[in-house]
Amino acid sequence: MRQDELHSPFYFHQASCKMASSLDFSPLFQPLQIGAVTLRDRVLVSALTRNRALPTNVPNDLMVEYYKQRAESARLTVSEGILICQQGTEWPHAPGIWNQEQIEGWKKINDAIHEAGSKCFAQIWHLGRVSHPDAPEQIASGQPVYGPSAIAARGGKFRFLPGIPGYVTPTEIDDPMKLVALLKQAAINAKEAGFDGIEVHGASGYLIHEFLDSGSNLRTDKWGGSIENRSRFGLEVLNAVIEVWGVERVGIKLSPAGGYNDMGMPFAETLATFNYFIAEIDKLGLAYIVLQRYSAFLNPIIDGEHRAINHDVLATYGHLVRKSTLLANASFTFEEAAHCVAGGKVAGVFWGQSWVSHLDLAKRVENGKPVDTPIDMHTLYGNTAGITLDDQRVGYTDYPFAEYP
Ligand code: PHB
Repeated sequence: MRQDELHSPFYFHQASCKMASSLDFSPLFQPLQIGAVTLRDRVLVSALTRNRALPTNVPNDLMVEYYKQRAESARLTVSEGILICQQGTEWPHAPGIWNQEQIEGWKKINDAIHEAGSKCFAQIWHLGRVSHPDAPEQIASGQPVYGPSAIAARGGKFRFLPGIPGYVTPTEIDDPMKLVALLKQAAINAKEAGFDGIEVHGASGYLIHEFLDSGSNLRTDKWGGSIENRSRFGLEVLNAVIEVWGVERVGIKLSPAGGYNDMGMPFAETLATFNYFIAEIDKLGLAYIVLQRYSAFLNPIIDGEHRAINHDVLATYGHLVRKSTLLANASFTFEEAAHCVAGGKVAGVFWGQSWVSHLDLAKRVENGKPVDTPIDMHTLYGNTAGITLDDQRVGYTDYPFAEYP
């Protein structure tokens, strides 16, 4: 979904800063163990939709170059959202992982990442109800838009469809275990493709979040109603992926503050739902749970009101994460991140857009180099001014490295 804010140069949620030598970022450069994976530092790359899999949904050599550039500095990259099937996306050029050609494409990316001494977790993704029947991949799938219940999200301005077509009322998924099976197959394929682990996308109003939220899940079977029932889908997905990867290589991303894609329950229900769900998934002992904080970027205005249930998710739920590693993201300055890590509030922090315009973000922070290259919002999701792969380099692989002695 495209929010109007996306058109403004909102550099505010980049962790922009001129490095002041008096700041101590050393807590971010301590080794970190997440499940089976050991990292040299805690400046992590979050999933970023870049929409460069031209001409279709297969990872290409340009994407190899993009991931490789960042892997020279990043110790852990979470891939962009990877589609588990052709059905269920508005994105024309998001990569998938349902066929062999895609697996081979990801293998090349993972080889490049590993050669650089880095690791990559695959973020597996299904958009649920926030796809559109006119989106090219959705049309090609020959299937309707699916959601937990036949309830449309409010709003509905899509990035690649003209105007504001509005969300459609999705077709209710008949048997959610079919989607669990697709997510499991994606996890199997990700193993063949050489990833180091899986991040289950449970945030931002996509499929798993839609099952959790009582506004999008009105099912009366065992998948809806009570908090336990709404949590069932996410738990089934995690258990299925753990069967493939083992618990030490599986993480999940959650955004309890909601907002994006018309997510958000009344405050008391938000608290009750996420208190339960986070406590339950923590019992599994996951590699990590990443809590996405409230962010203005993910808080669209819908029906005249901001949508997010703005609360401090780390303070509210952080204590529930005991057996898993707690990671965080959204709008951290490096100073704040170092402070949170030093104080034991979180083990590590993901940055997203700061990694877009700084290929060597962690190295810059460690070496006191400025982090001040503005991001070009017009090319974030593809260079719409051009159609060739070469055009797609713009705002993708052409950001500068800092100079090092
Ligand atoms: C986006 O591309 O706008 C997007 C994708 C996944 C998220 C959040 C935002 O989790």
